[in-house]
Amino acid sequence: DQARQIQETLAEFRLSKSQLLEVKKRMRVEIERGLKKESHKEATVKMLPTFVRSTPDGTENGDFLALDLGGTNFRVLLVKIRSGKRRTVEMHNKIYAIPIEVMQGTGEELFDHIVHCISDFLDYMGMKSARLPLGFTFSFPCHQTSLDAGILVTWTKGFKATDCEGEDVVELLREAIKRKEEFELDVVAIVNDTVGTMMTCAYEEPTCEVGLIAGTGSNACYMEEMRNIEIVDGTEGRMCVNMEWGAFGDNGCLDDIRTKYDQAVDENSLNEGKQRYEKMCSGMYLGEIVRQILIDLTKRGFLFRGQISETLKTRGIFETKFLSQIESDRLALLQVRAILQQLGLDSTCDDSIIVKEVCGTVSRRAAQICGAGMAAVVDKIRENRGLDHLDITVGVDGTLYKLHPHFSRIFHQTVKELAPKCEVNFLLSEDGSGKGAALITAVGCRQRELDA
Ligand code: BG6
Ligand code: GLC
Repeated sequence: DQARQIQETLAEFRLSKSQLLEVKKRMRVEIERGLKKESHKEATVKMLPTFVRSTPDGTENGDFLALDLGGTNFRVLLVKIRSGKRRTVEMHNKIYAIPIEVMQGTGEELFDHIVHCISDFLDYMGMKSARLPLGFTFSFPCHQTSLDAGILVTWTKGFKATDCEGEDVVELLREAIKRKEEFELDVVAIVNDTVGTMMTCAYEEPTCEVGLIAGTGSNACYMEEMRNIEIVDGTEGRMCVNMEWGAFGDNGCLDDIRTKYDQAVDENSLNEGKQRYEKMCSGMYLGEIVRQILIDLTKRGFLFRGQISETLKTRGIFETKFLSQIESDRLALLQVRAILQQLGLDSTCDDSIIVKEVCGTVSRRAAQICGAGMAAVVDKIRENRGLDHLDITVGVDGTLYKLHPHFSRIFHQTVKELAPKCEVNFLLSEDGSGKGAALITAVGCRQRELDA
């Protein structure tokens, strides 16, 4: 009977094909809202124009700096792109920490810290005087009016620095560079990580016209027809749209599949009520959902001898890497217990079986609803082009996708099932999004020269 009650709890996370098709359908509705002039202001899926009008064509050339802020790691990169017959890209990069006090301090402190890291990197490379063009991968929702202007709509994930929302982050960066008075840089482009990832992959594979991040956060971008992007002038060609699909559900449209555990995760977060879809399917929150379920099962006496330890009360203990380990098929239960032990959780053999099943159920739902979102996107692209069948490549990055033993497989399978008229090929970005940001910067520099 205990087993039955546990199964009943987990049943809420097990979505049927018709429920998933419903998620896909609703995503499509929100996509249309975000694209239309009369509804885009209230839309939850914001469909932000990026001013990136094409994928790379191999003529990009030059030396660029790139920043990559908003994922697990903050990186500064030097990217040397050479065009021509034997095109090459050479990259140098350094990872820097962003302490939590900086992520959640003042905007000035955050940008001073970023510039401090750039300064260190330029010293390290011996390039302080080069005045390089810079592409800024900034993985948060920004309202762009051009390639080099982006007003932060709202922080997401673990960031909460003050005085940034509503500001142009390119200006914030330029001001911080001025304050430092050590070097000059030319900030040419602000780029979402989905867009950077799409461009990185498209450099190798021209059929790549979609970008996906399944990491700390969850989001996608794709090449949309200009005629459908009503808030940007012009009807010719295409533009990449940063969907910001993490906010899907913020108007309540997913409430029927959200569980009380999802609500608890939301209430415990830095941005209550926001990014509801992201909170069901990205790395920053999956472990939190698991933790909420484990707390409940423990309270009901089904786990850990009914004792809620301090560890279990600690936010963020189940990082993606632990979930990935727990769910690894090669791992015996004894090893699962060892991982739980490492986290400070004393478990019996029975406990470890339950924990593993909870993790598996939560990550399966994540992969499936993420797949339902992607199915909506590729079908939209297929319809845009008036095709019965579409072949397309999605460039992907993110620790959940890369590290988790089952996420990517279940995700692929779901896309296939829910969008049967599309043949979707998934390409893992090995080079992060900084390379893509540099490619976009190269195009931006060329455009500036033409305009001058
Ligand atoms: C990196 C990209 O590889 O993946 C980043 O360079 C991106 O731009 C990140 O934000 C996403 O994954 P995660 O798991 O680090 O959030
Ligand atoms: C969050 C951000 C989004 C980003 C995603 C993946 O959803 O709002 O801009 O692309 O995380 O990093």
